[in-house]
Amino acid sequence: MSFDVAATAYDDFMGRYSRLLAEQMADLAGVRAGQRALDVGSGPGALTAELVRRLGPEHVAAVEPSTPFVAAMRSRFPGVEILQASAESLPFAAGSFDAALAQLVVHFMTDPVAGLVEMKRVTRPGGVVAACVWDHGGGLGPLGLFWQAARELDPEVHDESRLAGASEGSLASLFRAAGLRDLQETVVAADLEHESFEEWWAPFTRGVGPAGSYTAGLDPERQARLREACRRLLPAGSFVLPARAWAVSGVA
Ligand SMILES: C[S@@+](CC[C@H](N)C(=O)[O-])C[C@H]1O[C@@H](n2cnc3c(N)ncnc32)[C@H](O)[C@@H]1O
Repeated sequence: MSFDVAATAYDDFMGRYSRLLAEQMADLAGVRAGQRALDVGSGPGALTAELVRRLGPEHVAAVEPSTPFVAAMRSRFPGVEILQASAESLPFAAGSFDAALAQLVVHFMTDPVAGLVEMKRVTRPGGVVAACVWDHGGGLGPLGLFWQAARELDPEVHDESRLAGASEGSLASLFRAAGLRDLQETVVAADLEHESFEEWWAPFTRGVGPAGSYTAGLDPERQARLREACRRLLPAGSFVLPARAWAVSGVA
């Protein structure tokens, strides 16, 4: 799978944006000292770091299906309970957590409603489930410009715009289908300054996620054309890439 990559490759590609969402997601879920929280689809730990900062490692658990990410999590977060598992089958008893969060994960779940139902099950009644998904549908995720360039060269390309939760209202519909109540819908932001086009582009070639595996799978000539199409859409020198994600919280 496209997350079977080195944790550092993820950090450089997507972690550079996702770490900017962590505080906003923990606030949305109302995570505060004294609670116990679960990070579902932790990756190498952008959100886990914020949960540990608020709660202490012994009050945080994380699940992640990718073997290299689980290994990185275990070395980065001693004391956190880290299990190799998927959202659709969480290895915890009912009501184990005050909050269960999934940052940029719902759109990758095999069955997003089943994943959210599981997150609800392991959260105590009255606790909070929260998730966010990039606004790929509106082209406002950090990869919007990349997919725009890819579509210019190949109108049939499978971008991420149709994934579950990636369009306005879609994530909240999934929460409702999972039986979560008192929903709060909001937008979380991750505006990142890039030093140069090269600094922005290089991580795309390392095979991370759908955009990275698409790039890495192109032959050298097509990859060079895609790179140039991206370059034409970006200014010379440094630039800020504004990114937005749909975020929802609900009561279990
Ligand atoms: C875009 S990354 C987000 C990682 C991290 N939460 C962050 O904010 O940086 C998506 C993560 O979801 C994981 N994932 C994919 N399918 C999953 C599933 N069914 N259940 C749980 N995690 C899943 C991937 O392995 C990957 O680590």
